[in-house]
Amino acid sequence: MNSKWWKQAVIYQIYPKSFQDSNGDGIGDLQGIISRLDYLKKLGADALWLSPVCCSPQDDNGYDISDYQDIDPMFGNLEDMDELIEKAGKQGIRIIMDLVLNHTSDEHPWFKEAKKSKDNPYHDYYVWKDGVAGVVPNGLRACFGGPAWEWVPELGQYYFHQFSVKQPDLNWENPKVRREIQDMILWWMEKGIGGFRLDVIDCVAKDPDRLITADGPKLHTYIQELSRETFQKGDLVTVGEAWSANPESALLYSNPDGRELSMVFQFEHICLDQKKGGEKWDLAPLPFPELKRVLSAWQEALFCKGWNSLFWNNHDLPRIVSRWGNDKEYRVESAKMFAILLHGMQGTPYIYQGEELGMTNVRYHIEDYRDIEILNLYRERTEAGYKKSDVMESIYTKGRDNARTPMQWNQGKEAGFTEGTPWIKVNPNYTKINAEAALADDTSIFYLYQKLIELRKTYDVFADGKYRLLLPEDPDIFAYTRTLEKTVLLVVCNFYSNKVLLPLPKEFDCEKKLLASSYTDEGLPNELRPYEARMYLIG
Ligand code: NOJ
Repeated sequence: MNSKWWKQAVIYQIYPKSFQDSNGDGIGDLQGIISRLDYLKKLGADALWLSPVCCSPQDDNGYDISDYQDIDPMFGNLEDMDELIEKAGKQGIRIIMDLVLNHTSDEHPWFKEAKKSKDNPYHDYYVWKDGVAGVVPNGLRACFGGPAWEWVPELGQYYFHQFSVKQPDLNWENPKVRREIQDMILWWMEKGIGGFRLDVIDCVAKDPDRLITADGPKLHTYIQELSRETFQKGDLVTVGEAWSANPESALLYSNPDGRELSMVFQFEHICLDQKKGGEKWDLAPLPFPELKRVLSAWQEALFCKGWNSLFWNNHDLPRIVSRWGNDKEYRVESAKMFAILLHGMQGTPYIYQGEELGMTNVRYHIEDYRDIEILNLYRERTEAGYKKSDVMESIYTKGRDNARTPMQWNQGKEAGFTEGTPWIKVNPNYTKINAEAALADDTSIFYLYQKLIELRKTYDVFADGKYRLLLPEDPDIFAYTRTLEKTVLLVVCNFYSNKVLLPLPKEFDCEKKLLASSYTDEGLPNELRPYEARMYLIG
């Protein structure tokens, strides 16, 4: 049996701004989360990853931090945080903080100092380049549009920012920066934090002069230092967000020797439905055989040598049931299929708030979106002559606000999220899709997730079984086994809305126990109904 607690665990991601408001200001907060701990316990979550709650001007919804050691008043205060850690702890739930270490807010005191003069002690905390106004040092672009360089006339210098202009990149070459970060992490560890999610960690070792923004040569040295000085002093889970990760680098990040992190979020599967060479907004259909190939390659590459994170959703991604499932007539079946498909794999599964309810994407007017990325995209693409309807289609399909609409708790006012006016509109389907309805229906998506979480704790094959893809050429079915000694977990999923034959090899004509299904009845052995997924135990 795997010794690390997070190998049996399931982590639930909370986007605090949209989870539960407790004071009627329309913004979710820490007391709101505390009030929902029973719900999360009932689901079976072992840990809650909170998107950033530290002080922030909210240019990028908290991923622009102005004080790493205080809570933004909109979410509460440090006492609320202590209370959350304590009350969650009593329920056996750990709290995972989001560490944004690649950049700060431009309103962070370090940056305010850094901007004062070239010889200010904080100047070298950031990445600067001498230059002249209007001639950017190079062609690097920021993720949220525009150049990655911003001119500061008083200094005659540009600063580097990979995200918005209000998110200046920290200079990790500077040992003082790394030390400050370590001290801050140790401070949070003292508070009893159960782990950390490290925002765009592969970007920290940048070298903009050589056009390197991710996976720089010193990256693993820096992560090892960080881990040695902080994480290794506790029994933590650590997960790094790394868009550049591939199976080879993941073996470094998540090596069981524990020198770096527990695991990384990699995005190879997430990037499949975009045009080759384009951006995420350049939509393309999902190449299903590729999805099977990619997920299987990760399962195989990391077996015994690393550890996977398993996810379909997060606060930056559209809702999976709308993206690759069917959020109309087969919403429930397809949401369950995605759950079964993912939770049978090796790794630590992440559930993003509302995923357990089958929450869906939204189609709002542009004025109703809040995300800086969406708003910048809309402006840039419409100015560049794209058709408005095409831009909106990209936003409906991939926009981050799809994931950020308020959690749907009940059919009351604003879905039970707030007594006030929510900071972003509630998805109008809340009258039908909400937690109260899910809890009252023992066939709901919620209870399937609950069961999958339980199963992971009951059978070692979930954490330790060896993966094998079945029917690799099948155009509709994703099927695989996990094997641990004499125990075999068999997962078969119909990824589409047509009924299909299930041509399983003869060896599976044996006695099998049905552990989970996306339907309420057993169905026929040799056929899968639309989005039918079954998980069996053999032996
Ligand atoms: C990744 C985060 O998940 C995203 O929400 C944020 O905008 C960027 N990093 C910048 O911090």
